[in-house]
Amino acid sequence: ATPFAADALSGAVPYGAAIRIDELADILYSEAVRTYCKVIVAEGAMKWSDLQAVRGSFTFEPTDTLLAFAQDNDIELRGHTLAWYAALPEWAERISSAEEARTELVHHIDTVVGRYKGRIRSWDVVNEAIAEDPTPDAPYRDSVWLRHLGPDYIELALRTASEADSSAQLVLNDYEFEQPTDQARAKRKAFLDMVRGLKSRNVPLHAIGLQGHLRGESAVDSPGISSFVAELSALGLGILVTELDVIDDQLPGPIEERDKLIAARAREFLSAIGSVVRPEIVVTWGVSDQHTWVPIWFSRQDGLPNRPLPLDENYQPKELMRVI
Ligand code: XIL
Repeated sequence: ATPFAADALSGAVPYGAAIRIDELADILYSEAVRTYCKVIVAEGAMKWSDLQAVRGSFTFEPTDTLLAFAQDNDIELRGHTLAWYAALPEWAERISSAEEARTELVHHIDTVVGRYKGRIRSWDVVNEAIAEDPTPDAPYRDSVWLRHLGPDYIELALRTASEADSSAQLVLNDYEFEQPTDQARAKRKAFLDMVRGLKSRNVPLHAIGLQGHLRGESAVDSPGISSFVAELSALGLGILVTELDVIDDQLPGPIEERDKLIAARAREFLSAIGSVVRPEIVVTWGVSDQHTWVPIWFSRQDGLPNRPLPLDENYQPKELMRVI
């Protein structure tokens, strides 16, 4: 590790990144991952659409490759993700009954978690379960799972994962908790309600993933995040930062200024968490600005490249790397 990476929340929190498996063939990319990362996660390869594009036929080669890379380099591979509304193959979107939904969800989770039992320790079991604009009547995000099974699919997914690997760390992962908005407040409340319900029913659940796709232009709701994390910790749950990046489409162009603002935003977020509890890991959604989802989803009007990640497009550490 470099002096920059060693700064991670007083050096105590393992840093990691989401990985595009094909890019590992690029020596600069794989060297950066080896240098900085103690934990990695597949950016896409372990989603349903990749693992089970054809019903009943699983494609494990890319994941196996990633796992071998991780093991060779003493890096931990996390699993992402077992139940999500998105990245579903067409056949799964067409599931048409509760029985079919239950069968397929259980089969997928059982097969995938079972295969990597003892080798993948931590799983994002359900991703983004809460609605974008949750109301007391409709707190959950629409998905093929919710439509056919109701919110019980969350419990089903967690119980199935636990049965497939009883020593795995089971995580619920979600986003936008840190925004200074009513929507984010509603999201935190809906999420806590869900978690309390699961805990009261003794559903296996061990940690919460805060994605942390921060918006460069809006301040982090630090008190909101701190009390949210405190409530989750009080329930005995670990805290993971799972997808950190700083979306910079609304930030000024000049790089020096922009990189400072980006680092400051991440510092706000990590301090708000760190003032309450030490996160178990801090994972950014990619390692270098060369490979990031941000320009596709949040491209800049001025045509300048986005800079959401800790390394620049030449794999040089930026100010953000000092923060994490
Ligand atoms: C994103 C990938 O980065 C993109 O390449 C893909 O097109 C869409 O998914 N929250 C998540 C991640 O949990 O899985 C998403 O990843 C980003 C938002």
